Amino acid sequence: TELSKIRNFSIVAHIDHGKSTLADRLIQKTGGLSEREMKEQVLDSMDIERERGITVKAQTVRLDYTAQDGETYVLNLIDTPGHVDFAYEVNRSLAACEGSLLVVDASQGVEAQTLANVYQAIEVDHEIVPVLNKIDLPAAEPERVKQQIEDVIGLDASDAIEISAKTGLGIEDVLEGIVTRLPAPEGDRAAPLKAMLVDSWYDAYLGVIVLVRIIDGELKKGQRIRMMASKAVYGVDEVGVFRPKKEKVESLGPGEIGYLTASIKQVADTAVGDTITEERRPAEKPLPGFKPAQPVVFCGLFPVDAAQFEDLREALGKLRLNDASFEYEMETSAALGFGFRCGFLGLLHLEIIRERLEREFNIDLITTAPSVIYHMYMTDGTMVELHNPADMPDPVKIDYIEEPWIKATILVPDEYLGAVLKLCEDRRGIQQDLTYVGGRAMAVYRLPLNEVVFDFYDRLKSVTKGYASFDYNIEDYQQGDLVKMSILVNAEPVDALAIIVHKGRAEARGRGMCEKLKDLIPRHLFKIPVQAAIGGRVIARETIAAMRKDVTAKCYGGDATRKRKLLDKQKEGKKRMRQFGKVDIPQEAFISALKMD
Ligand code: GTP
Repeated sequence: TELSKIRNFSIVAHIDHGKSTLADRLIQKTGGLSEREMKEQVLDSMDIERERGITVKAQTVRLDYTAQDGETYVLNLIDTPGHVDFAYEVNRSLAACEGSLLVVDASQGVEAQTLANVYQAIEVDHEIVPVLNKIDLPAAEPERVKQQIEDVIGLDASDAIEISAKTGLGIEDVLEGIVTRLPAPEGDRAAPLKAMLVDSWYDAYLGVIVLVRIIDGELKKGQRIRMMASKAVYGVDEVGVFRPKKEKVESLGPGEIGYLTASIKQVADTAVGDTITEERRPAEKPLPGFKPAQPVVFCGLFPVDAAQFEDLREALGKLRLNDASFEYEMETSAALGFGFRCGFLGLLHLEIIRERLEREFNIDLITTAPSVIYHMYMTDGTMVELHNPADMPDPVKIDYIEEPWIKATILVPDEYLGAVLKLCEDRRGIQQDLTYVGGRAMAVYRLPLNEVVFDFYDRLKSVTKGYASFDYNIEDYQQGDLVKMSILVNAEPVDALAIIVHKGRAEARGRGMCEKLKDLIPRHLFKIPVQAAIGGRVIARETIAAMRKDVTAKCYGGDATRKRKLLDKQKEGKKRMRQFGKVDIPQEAFISALKMD
């Protein structure tokens, strides 16, 4: 296709503002799918992703559109992942396009995620077309939201396109807007092949499918290609496009977006952002901006039932086939036995993997406290990365510790601002900025990531009744007064509950965890002390009183079925417990104990 007839774009939006609905409409309008096929939303496919309303994998679709000028254009839509944890993937997907549609719900206005995504789009020099969606809603306020886009983002919104993705109103205007307002790509067909690896996923029949954006040169079947960062070489088996169904093509030229297969065994062999070139005639320099995927949040995953260890290993292997951004290695815990230490791009990513293991693979898991990566500067001058509080070196050998800090942007209606500021202050936050935009406050805070990984997002949602939106990125490492806090149950340390905590917050955290555990651990026949300690010093303590009566005593000895039911129920409960010394600790205690109220 001629460069002047190509438009590559993505849609940036906050969750629920209608990105998928609009994408489906664009596909429908340009004839990519029949009415029946449209029934299922196409671009969000995985169940859990859909339930949580997020897109993890970038998807793409090629649309043929005959514009009002009579010419037929190829429009490539790259769908960007919808969550902060996948900021780098978003960045690469955006870098593969020349422009974006900025979709804002006209009844809601600009949200934190909208801002984060639109700034990313601006960073990669996108032309941006504002689109106000849901104007069919009585609560829609297009004029107010336009003003907000201008005030907050600094984008001219006077010719924003007003649409309803639901009813189909204005979809033609969006297509025209793409053709007339977004720039065509540039590139040189005669130059050596240079393509960006935008995304990849595993297909049971074809192996790994790689989504690419061609910058220069041509990609063809039979070519030998080289990944410039990973250095791996492959023979191209197939080249094609998504309409949205897969369709083979002869070749892909400059400006085009499509896929290749090359008998690549695992997604881990393909790095998002890598540059693909031809082995015979390689490009001189790779594309700028490549970054290897780097997990930032770590936790241990242990099967509740030790017999499920092999199942867990196999399940992790299967998930990793399609997600190279999480990593795992075997870990043994004195308390929990055999399990895996896993690294994730962020908390949500952790949640997705954990849920899939439980739901799709039926494995009951104990998740240990999420931890960030600490930099331990040792007295001998070396630096050690600490991923697991259990591996904390002897404190006398540590000179100082650094922890990661994030910059968080929170948008919230005025009435909840007080609660949000308090939450941030409680988590050692440092205010950077506080402004008002269209009746809402925008707070920018620097926060230590370790205060955010536990339950910051849940707390934020609960103190603002779900009205706050939140976005963050990691900024730097900074020295902190950090210590390891152990939890002892019946005088035995439970390694899975150990956390790294700021000294000034240790006592409150310790007290909170002991109080929680007191309620979470059922009574036993003996008294159980629950303690929090730093080094050998106990900083908080609770006691679980001994059980007095047999539970079945409540059943007046009479009703045998009721009695049996109760015993069965107890047994069921038992399954979800783990024994620590003489004490049974229920599975949910491990996560609940870490939440702060
Ligand atoms: P994620 O994929 O979860 O990021 O969300 P999204 O931005 O893709 O939103 P989606 O298209 O799933 O739409 C969210 C909700 O808004 C759905 O219930 C849609 O039916 C609804 N919706 C989308 N567009 C419109 C619209 O124009 N009008 C109305 N009334 N509802 C809409």
